[in-house]
Amino acid sequence: MSDKYTLEVLKEYERLQDEAKNKQRQRQIEIYNKFPRIRDIDNEIARTGFEIASSIFKGIDIENYIKEQKKRITDLKIEKAEILSSHNYPVDYLEIQYKCNKCKDTGYIGNEKCSCFKQKLIDRHYKQSNLRDILNEENFDTFDFSLYSDQKYKDEPLSPRKNIEEIFTRCVNFTKNFDNTNENLFFFGGSGLGKTFLSNCIAKELLDKGKVVIYQTSSNLIQILRSLRFEDNAPKDQIEDFIECDLLIIDDLGTEPNTPYAQSELFNIINTRIIKGKKILISTNFPLEDLLSIYPERITSRILGHFTICEFYGDDIRIKKSINKRKARA
Ligand SMILES: Nc1ncnc2c1ncn2[C@@H]1O[C@H](COP(=O)(O)OP(=O)(O)OP(=O)(O)O)[C@@H](O)[C@H]1O
Ligand SMILES: [Mg+2]
Ligand SMILES: [Zn+2]
Repeated sequence: MSDKYTLEVLKEYERLQDEAKNKQRQRQIEIYNKFPRIRDIDNEIARTGFEIASSIFKGIDIENYIKEQKKRITDLKIEKAEILSSHNYPVDYLEIQYKCNKCKDTGYIGNEKCSCFKQKLIDRHYKQSNLRDILNEENFDTFDFSLYSDQKYKDEPLSPRKNIEEIFTRCVNFTKNFDNTNENLFFFGGSGLGKTFLSNCIAKELLDKGKVVIYQTSSNLIQILRSLRFEDNAPKDQIEDFIECDLLIIDDLGTEPNTPYAQSELFNIINTRIIKGKKILISTNFPLEDLLSIYPERITSRILGHFTICEFYGDDIRIKKSINKRKARA
């Protein structure tokens, strides 16, 4: 598959590598000027390496020689690290700093596409590139508990604050144990209670860990799948993305057209992912009773049987935030 996006991403990798190398060179110049001893050390390491390589042709006790030279290199590296750290520089300050350490910004590990490559394609194919900006604002570090009341709410046993604290912990654990569980999450509850916000927190954490994440509203998801399946010349192999990605987030379940096609598409995706042990996060602001009446039993039983259900309740945060803003202006 070499569509325009693949070429675009490959160009981006070239740029990232150039950038990383240029920045490393700048740091090197800075350090060599400040600590000429480090320049000597680097030269000596390079010379010693070269001598080891050419020693094979000399008639000496090769094994012993190589051992000695390797020890020499290690000593030099230690001396360099000590100079850097005693002047408060990180010991890897002179290394090239890649955006992705797994593939060193090449997009490939051997012949396999790196997860960062897959994610870059997904972001372009399914128009999620703006997700990055949102995730800088909506993540576990910016989650504000004070927006949830600590007073009793209707007949609920826990205050909205206590309730969201428990859900928050569950979400943090979900990302921590991501590789070791088959847990799926189902968020439901009224409008403006942080379901999308918390989905974003999870997406950010997993993307940072190098996982491949697709985030789509239910209606967009159905639209994308419909185009991939039925449009002429559609890249059908991309349907696999929705089965293979590490986490599929389906937001606003229930906003898709309520048709047999949409339902079978949803069932198919949810069921196939469950069978393959691929995780899903669904959120909706429909009450559970309504979902039971909207969807056929085969869908709801998959959801109720295979998802950890988290109920959000309390006062609409959108309204609360806009009142706070107005108060701040007054
Ligand atoms: N814990 C939080 N900390 C800071 N801001 C929050 C928090 N939770 C929600 N918000 C803000 O409140 C607004 C509503 O949140 P969000 O969109 O996540 O609600 P929702 O439950 O997904 O609602 P809907 O069901 O309508 O989609 C957003 O502007 C969001 O940024
Ligand atoms: Mg939402
Ligand atoms: Zn990578």
